[in-house]
Amino acid sequence: MRRAETLEEIVKRRLLYWPSSEIYGGVGGFYDYGPLGVQLRRNIVEKWRKVFVLPYQDLIIEVETPIIMPEPVFKASGHLDHFTDYLVTCTKCGRKYRADHLVEEELAKRGLKISTEGMSASDLERLISEHKIVCPHCGGPLGRVETFNLLFKTTIGPYSENAGYLRPETAQGMFVAFPRLAEYVGRRHPFGVAQIGRVARNEISPRGGLMRLREFTQMEIELFFDPQNPKCPYFAEVESFEIPIVPEEFVAKGQTEPVYLTAREVVERGHANEWMAFFMALAAKFLKELGVPIERQKFLGKLPHERAHYSAKSYDQMVLTERFGWVEVSGHAYRTDYDLSGHSKFSSREMYLERRLSTPKEVEVVRLYPNPNAIRERYGDKIGEVIKAIKEHEGRVIEAFNRGMSEVALGEYVISRDMVYIKLEKRKTDLEKFIPHVVEPSFGLDRIMYVVLESAVVEEEGRVYLRLPPDIAPVKACILPIVKRADYVEIGRTLWRSLARQGFVVLYEDEGTIGSRYASCDEIGTPLAVTIDEKTPVDGTVTIRDRDTKRQVRVKLGDVVTFVSMVAGGASFDDAARALGAAPVQ
Ligand code: GLY
Repeated sequence: MRRAETLEEIVKRRLLYWPSSEIYGGVGGFYDYGPLGVQLRRNIVEKWRKVFVLPYQDLIIEVETPIIMPEPVFKASGHLDHFTDYLVTCTKCGRKYRADHLVEEELAKRGLKISTEGMSASDLERLISEHKIVCPHCGGPLGRVETFNLLFKTTIGPYSENAGYLRPETAQGMFVAFPRLAEYVGRRHPFGVAQIGRVARNEISPRGGLMRLREFTQMEIELFFDPQNPKCPYFAEVESFEIPIVPEEFVAKGQTEPVYLTAREVVERGHANEWMAFFMALAAKFLKELGVPIERQKFLGKLPHERAHYSAKSYDQMVLTERFGWVEVSGHAYRTDYDLSGHSKFSSREMYLERRLSTPKEVEVVRLYPNPNAIRERYGDKIGEVIKAIKEHEGRVIEAFNRGMSEVALGEYVISRDMVYIKLEKRKTDLEKFIPHVVEPSFGLDRIMYVVLESAVVEEEGRVYLRLPPDIAPVKACILPIVKRADYVEIGRTLWRSLARQGFVVLYEDEGTIGSRYASCDEIGTPLAVTIDEKTPVDGTVTIRDRDTKRQVRVKLGDVVTFVSMVAGGASFDDAARALGAAPVQ
């Protein structure tokens, strides 16, 4: 636990994050992020965009949708029925526990290692009774195992019947907006939609710091494709990348160790389609570039009873941590047409793309035509608006009248049967509508932040530092006059200002010994320390120190911004030094 403990001290000392609402006693599952934490998170988000979105911007677009959504969204998505955990209550003291976690923990105390993942309420009750598990707090008997829905409920506006829910995943905003998004991309496919945002889950008893939060940030992509053509046009970029994978069939036999298969082999052996394998390869690469070696990653196949209700196939990207063992940092799900079909049914809006057929075919189509006379009779000069509403909701109107309803309400207009003609027509077409299938990579930013920090801890030669990749380090450089002399201070402040104006996060510090200031920069992972010394006022040069090796080079003051920019952009210290002709400091 050495690294985890060291990290905990750094987190506390440098206020990277802390439990939220502390002055009121705190509430489990909510964290505040301090300035360094915010910067690190922002850099991880930008890196994610650089790996998953920007190189594929011809296919993947970004959106932002609200955190609160109305009740029908979650009826359609299945979350109101299925997004539940098991709850058990002590009949003596009233304490409530997440039943599966309680059973696992109590059995582990007795040396029994049992996974309760996917177990039913009756399975858990049987284990509680067989092993005589009681309330760990007061020893009282436990009650029945019940289901507990994890959605946070609220009301929208002043009407208590107008229920809203905090989204438990950003995904639903993208599914619900599908008709607009399909229109935006001109119904071409495949296409993907990415969203980064806050989500909330009313966890029963969150523990484990950033590992289980009631409010957290997701980075998700919904990739919409034709199930008849699950090809990823960028697959060649990743096909030889080795993915540590435990396929579902291996998991079923009790295997937990990964095998290393190239993305191409993953597809050829039927473990995933091209889109899933593509995102899994990118995810492995992403974590590796964040400092988590491939050997501490694996993609664990989920058995049918372990998957989310919407998923036909799932892998969890797991990372081995010192503090928490294996933790899931991303989920990769094949959601088929589950969500779009659900929303189409509940909203009566079509959720489709079109594929081109090699030979045209004759199809029967139901067409809806407004009856202007009947509409004008009822709505007079609003006729144009009514016709527009009918056209926009064509599918819903046809469906309602086919079901025998006498009227359909479209906002403020009520459409009666005589206001439209519904006709069955034959026509030739080479276009065929289909509901796209979805592959979803979904990342938890807060967990990633933890694993990145824990992986970065280095203790060597009596010093402690975070070996964060320079592009995600919260601070790019520290500016340190070797002593607090007026001319050094002025040069240091001017340099700090020019870096800050270029958009770099940089610290200036002139108090304390130079050794303690280096240590302070190192422990937050700052890749570069720039020192103003006795030579600076004379020849206009400063030293730049590499965090990892402690080696120093001397560069011209005018080159510091370029040096920092190169290292922050991914160049090594040596490459930057070479490019700028920097001389090593002996
Ligand atoms: N969108 C997947 C999840 O939130 O678990």
